[in-house]
Amino acid sequence: MHIESGNPQDTAAAGRPRFGRRALLSAGAVLAAGAGAAAATAIGRDSGHPAPAATPPAAVPHYGARQSGLTYRQLPATRLLALDLPASADRDALRGLLAALDKVLAAASDGSLADPRLSAAPVSSLAAIGPSLAARLKLPVPAELAELPAFPGDRLDAARSGGDLLLQVSAEHPWTTGVLTEHLLTAAKPFGVSSRWNQAGFLPSVPDGETPRNLFGFKDGSANPDPADPGLWNADGTILVYRRIRMDTAAFAALPTDRQELSMGRHLMSGAPLTGTGEHDDPDIYIKHPDGSYVIPVDAHVRLSSPRLDGGARMLRRGYSYDDAPDDRGLLFCAFMRDPALFTRVQNRLAENDALNPFLTHNATAVAWVLPGSQPDRPLGSTL
Ligand code: HEM
Repeated sequence: MHIESGNPQDTAAAGRPRFGRRALLSAGAVLAAGAGAAAATAIGRDSGHPAPAATPPAAVPHYGARQSGLTYRQLPATRLLALDLPASADRDALRGLLAALDKVLAAASDGSLADPRLSAAPVSSLAAIGPSLAARLKLPVPAELAELPAFPGDRLDAARSGGDLLLQVSAEHPWTTGVLTEHLLTAAKPFGVSSRWNQAGFLPSVPDGETPRNLFGFKDGSANPDPADPGLWNADGTILVYRRIRMDTAAFAALPTDRQELSMGRHLMSGAPLTGTGEHDDPDIYIKHPDGSYVIPVDAHVRLSSPRLDGGARMLRRGYSYDDAPDDRGLLFCAFMRDPALFTRVQNRLAENDALNPFLTHNATAVAWVLPGSQPDRPLGSTL
C-alpha cells in the first residue's frame, strides 16, 4: 500500500524525532545524521513514494562526552530506577556493573539488542551515583555531591527515595522503557544488586518546538538554560536532583484562571511571564504596578525560583509527569546542575512562600552524580 506523504497515516512523519528549539541547537549533528539516514531509506523501491514502514527512526548516539539522557531531546516516556549494591561490593564490582549496564544501553540505542519486543526506536539514558555509595567506596566524585537537607513541608517516603545507583531510560513509549528495564535488571543480577524503587513518568505529545504542559496545565521548561551551558557541567558530568511531588490538580484547577496565573507568575495559555508577551520573555521580577505592588507577586513560583535571586545560576529542568493513582499524580522534578546547593537555596525559598504549596507534597527525593558519557573502549564509570 502506498501512503502519500502528508496523509495522517504517514507513520514515517509520525515517527520522526521532534526537536525543541534548544534541543535543536545542541543536537544539530544528531538530527543531520538522522535526516541523512532517513533520506537514504525513505524512497520506496518501486514508486519513488516514501516507504514509511521501512524507515527506522533516527538512532540516538549512545557514546559521547555526555550521556544521551541529558543531551538528547526529552523523549515522552521515562522510567527511573534506583538500585542498591550489596554491602560487600567494591569499586571493581561497581565498574563491572556499570560496564554491563552500558553494554545493554548501547545495544538498545543502536537497535542491536536481540529482543523482538524492541525496535530501533530512539532510546536515551543516564546513569548516576548516589552520595552514600560514593562515600562508602570513596569514589572520586565532585565535592558538591551530598545529600539534600530536610525542607519544611517534606513528607518523604524512604522506600521511594535515595539509592546507590540511579538509572533513567527514556523512549517514545512505556513499552520500550519497560522492556529495557527488564534487560538492565537482568544484566545487574550477577552483581547481587537489589531494586530499591522505580518510577514511570510521561510527557504529553506536543508539536515541534512546543514546551509540554504539566498537570496544572502550565507549560513547564520554558526558562531552561541551553544544555550546552558550561555552568551546568563538571567534567562532562552533572548532578541530578530528583523530587517526586504530588500535585492536587483538582484543587488547583478549581481556582479561577487569574489566581492560577498569579500563583505561577505566568499566563496559562501562552506561558508568557506576567511581565511579558512571549513564552521565552525573561520574567522580570522587579516590574511594579502603579500602586507599587509587583506584577509577578511576591509568592509567585517564578519569582521565588528566579535565577536573579541566585546570581544568575540556572538548573536544567527535564521533569516528567506521573500518574500512579487518581490521588497520586504529579511531577517528577528532575533537574541537573553543577552544585545541588542551588536546588537547596531555591527549594528553601519555595518551601517558605510558594503560592503553589497548598497544592504540592514532596514525597520522595534523590540526588546523584550523573557520570560523564562512555566510549566503546571506555564504558560508563571507567573514571571511577
Ligand atoms: C510540582 C511542582 C512544580 C511545578 C508544577 C512547577 C512548575 C513550574 C512552571 C510552570 C514554571 C514556569 C515555566 C518554566 O520556566 O518552566 C516553573 C519554573 C521554574 N521552576 Fe518550577 N515547578 C515545580 C517545582 C519546582 C521545584 C521543586 C523547583 C526547585 C526547587 C522549581 C524550580 C523552577 C525554576 C528554577 C524555574 C525557572 C525560573 C525562571 O528561570 O524563570 N520548580 N516551574
